[in-house]
Amino acid sequence: MSPSNLQQPLRLGNLALPSRFFLAPLAGYTNLPFRLVARPLGGLGLATTDLVNARSLIEKRRQALELIETRPDDQPLAVQIFGTVKEELCAAAQLLQSLGVSVVDLNMGCPVHKVVRGGGGSAMMRETTKTVALVHALVESVKIPVTVKMRLGWDDANISAPFFAREFEQAGVAAVTIHGRTRAQGFSGSVNRPGIRAVVEAVERIPIVGNGDIRTVEDARMMFAETGCAAVGIGRGALLNPWIFRQCNASLVRGEPVVPSSYEERIDFMVSHYEMLQNFRGERVACIQFRKMSRWYGRSLRIPKAMQHRLVMLKDAAGFYGLVAEVRAMPPRPEAPPVRSEPRIPISSKANERW
Ligand SMILES: Cc1cc2nc3c(=O)[nH]c(=O)nc-3n(C[C@H](O)[C@H](O)[C@H](O)COP(=O)(O)O)c2cc1C
Repeated sequence: MSPSNLQQPLRLGNLALPSRFFLAPLAGYTNLPFRLVARPLGGLGLATTDLVNARSLIEKRRQALELIETRPDDQPLAVQIFGTVKEELCAAAQLLQSLGVSVVDLNMGCPVHKVVRGGGGSAMMRETTKTVALVHALVESVKIPVTVKMRLGWDDANISAPFFAREFEQAGVAAVTIHGRTRAQGFSGSVNRPGIRAVVEAVERIPIVGNGDIRTVEDARMMFAETGCAAVGIGRGALLNPWIFRQCNASLVRGEPVVPSSYEERIDFMVSHYEMLQNFRGERVACIQFRKMSRWYGRSLRIPKAMQHRLVMLKDAAGFYGLVAEVRAMPPRPEAPPVRSEPRIPISSKANERW
């Protein structure tokens, strides 16, 4: 996509998006505190909540309500739902609409056994008739835009994303995000950009969001160039470098040079993130949640392993601020170079069982 096309506003139904650089959902990471700290850095076009169980949502369970919690400065935002029962998914979408949510995103990647057994999650990609009917019903149940996020297919022998994207367009889906791997692939191997291109070519007009392994502005440029996608979704790359949206805008839309984040900015971001988590969840939970950020901040700040270990063991705010003082006293370090051979954040062996 040329810079002039990238400048054109992208809409989901009536919703105008500020950019074509989206934050892909990373359950447990890209939650409200993270989004509130990342958005002011600029350039973010759309964020999506963690996947929320449709039934839990209509039963108004505490955990589901916490996942959809938002603020006026956390917009534009899509809420992602998953489930197995058409009526429940429609009821959840209607509830979200009544709460003022702008976009509902359907997760078609979840292969947890009990979900798959019921025909939901990524098993939806194996059940064509039922899935297409379900998406029709979902779109008809609400006025707000409905989007779908899926992988290329179940495995290499079953690349069904082009078929589904075409059917979903007919059903009235506003956009489709494609993580360019199969379910069988997990997070291994590299993203299949020709596979995403085939989905772009299968639809007539709806935007396809290309997703997977975008760590740098150059990766985003290649995703646009090689797939013809209308927008890109950036997940793990945004954890390491939340400035990536602003950098993509500067470089790919305005043709300006990429300004890397400074060491000070990266420390300030970590502190703001911790404080936002603490404001929302209190000191104890903030420390527990922050522990899993240790590898990512360890890498982005390039701190010694021993310091990173202290983040892994974080117990209280005093420990955090003590560490921050030491990090500030260190000689400034440039942004870490992208490393392709390892994921930026630890992915549990169960991750592929979920997304
Ligand atoms: C820890 C983790 C959590 C994820 N949570 C979700 C989720 O809730 N919903 C979803 O559709 N995808 C989820 N994904 C998949 C990502 O949205 C994205 O498709 C994938 O990580 C590839 O993009 P990336 O290379 O930019 O991270 C998750 C991935 C990871 C690693």
